Amino acid sequence: MTADMRQTRRWWERAVIYENHLPSFRDGNGDGIGDLPGLVASLDYLSEVLGVDAVWVGPFFRSPLLDHGYDISGYDDVEPVYGTLADFDTLVEAAHRRQLKIIVDYVPNHTSDQHPWFVASRSSRTNAKRDWYVWRDPAPGGGPPNNWTSEAGGSVWEFAAGTGQYYLHSHLVEQPDLNWRNPHVASALLGVLRFWLRRGADGVRIDVAHMLMKDPEFRDNPPRRSPLANRYDIQHPDFAVQEHVHDRRHPDVFGVLTEIRRVVDEFDERVSIAEIEGMPWDEWAAYFGRNLDGVHLPFAFRLIETPWDAAALGREIDGLVGATPPGAWPVLALGNHDRQRLATRLGPRQARVAAMLLLSLPGTPTVLYGDELGLADQPVPEARQRDHFARRKGGISRDPTRTPMPWSATAPNGGFSDADPDDLWLPISVQLPAVAVTSQLNDPASMLELYRHLISVRRKSPALRHGTYRRIDASGAPPDVLVYERRDAADHKVVALNLGADARILHLAVDGAVVVSTRPERSANRIADIVELGADEGVVIDVDPDSEEHHQ
Ligand code: NOJ
Ligand code: CA
Repeated sequence: MTADMRQTRRWWERAVIYENHLPSFRDGNGDGIGDLPGLVASLDYLSEVLGVDAVWVGPFFRSPLLDHGYDISGYDDVEPVYGTLADFDTLVEAAHRRQLKIIVDYVPNHTSDQHPWFVASRSSRTNAKRDWYVWRDPAPGGGPPNNWTSEAGGSVWEFAAGTGQYYLHSHLVEQPDLNWRNPHVASALLGVLRFWLRRGADGVRIDVAHMLMKDPEFRDNPPRRSPLANRYDIQHPDFAVQEHVHDRRHPDVFGVLTEIRRVVDEFDERVSIAEIEGMPWDEWAAYFGRNLDGVHLPFAFRLIETPWDAAALGREIDGLVGATPPGAWPVLALGNHDRQRLATRLGPRQARVAAMLLLSLPGTPTVLYGDELGLADQPVPEARQRDHFARRKGGISRDPTRTPMPWSATAPNGGFSDADPDDLWLPISVQLPAVAVTSQLNDPASMLELYRHLISVRRKSPALRHGTYRRIDASGAPPDVLVYERRDAADHKVVALNLGADARILHLAVDGAVVVSTRPERSANRIADIVELGADEGVVIDVDPDSEEHHQ
């Protein structure tokens, strides 16, 4: 990478993204459900307190909300529960005034079954919209056309008795897949993209981007060869019985993503982010496109799925860095709205180490709302569950990850909403008051202060933002320690993470100063050759400019 390229890095390559979950973020009108005005009222927190650069808003389009808005019944309008188009305009304007970017969800793979397109499509075999969705005859002996299983459980095929055919739904029965092989579908969906970019969105996060094209012959998926590798994805057991090779990731998907990218490039400075499932790094890198004409930022989900183990993480990060083509840039997350929260998965101490890892790697970090407070999964009684993935076919609810943002230690409902607690979108965390923003702000030992500090150190450090990455094989380092350096011309940082619960001593051959530690009680800041890491401690070391001369 040349110095010039570094200076011209685009905004999304310098940014920290915040994943907001609209119904759980802040309720602006007292009905118990978060909304766009609530998000507008939270922008000072995001830009000034936390210091992030972009907000990925989550779906807010017309929807029956069976899959918290990923089931869209009208693409060009705001779901009334969340506000109005004017509220979206206000959000964009208020965000831009604070130099914050707004990224919207773009859900091109499926609609709600309530979408007028699907209502028309299912009405008769000869309807002009019939082919906008994927309709197939029953298999020769009867039953579904093939063996594909859905992420929400059961078959992906639902029989529509009225017309005697099955339609495809990769997720809920109420989420029919669109047929991207039909040019009218492609042009309508590219129109949706233009609609939101014209309205001021700074970019899109493309939902299940790898699924837009399926095997045109609809061949059966083979049975699973090995046990499910991905223990961090909340997947339905039915989904895990087969290798999902024909129902997604058909090579034609790259053509679609290039078309999407072309539309994004019709506008200045807009970003396309692809949600793609975890996959081998060379296959992941293909989503950048052959000439970097695919998506700008493909999510590196393999990292979320890596066990919390220093050797495994080190290997995967090497894989990620090695596979990233010159001039390309990844987007990273260690948790999201579909997974267990970090504080639950790793425990509160290692969740702090995870924050340091996420915010010191090469790639655009994405922080899930509430993770900056150490919010943990909150069991949700069945009667109050919202996620229909858990309803019909015995799936696992993702609601525990999606409970309301705890703003205040003293206000009712943690300051999330004025509504009656029984009317809240989801129940509020039992970790209140400790987990609230007001409890943590200015407490040097809090998770919030750690995130703020890490984000601000990253912002000021060219090495952490866009420098080179190299894993350091610390001599004699115990297996639960991960060490790497980030380097730019005049800025050199070393990051040492203790993923274990025992104190460790490392010989690193660097001199410098600890600029952030995950252990609030750390007192020794100067490093000379030896780094003492406490239990569960990660540190970012600012290496002295003349350190290398001393160690030759
Ligand atoms: C991926 C989204 O992250 C998830 O929440 C949703 O259920 C599916 N796509 C279907 O849209
Ligand atoms: Ca509301």
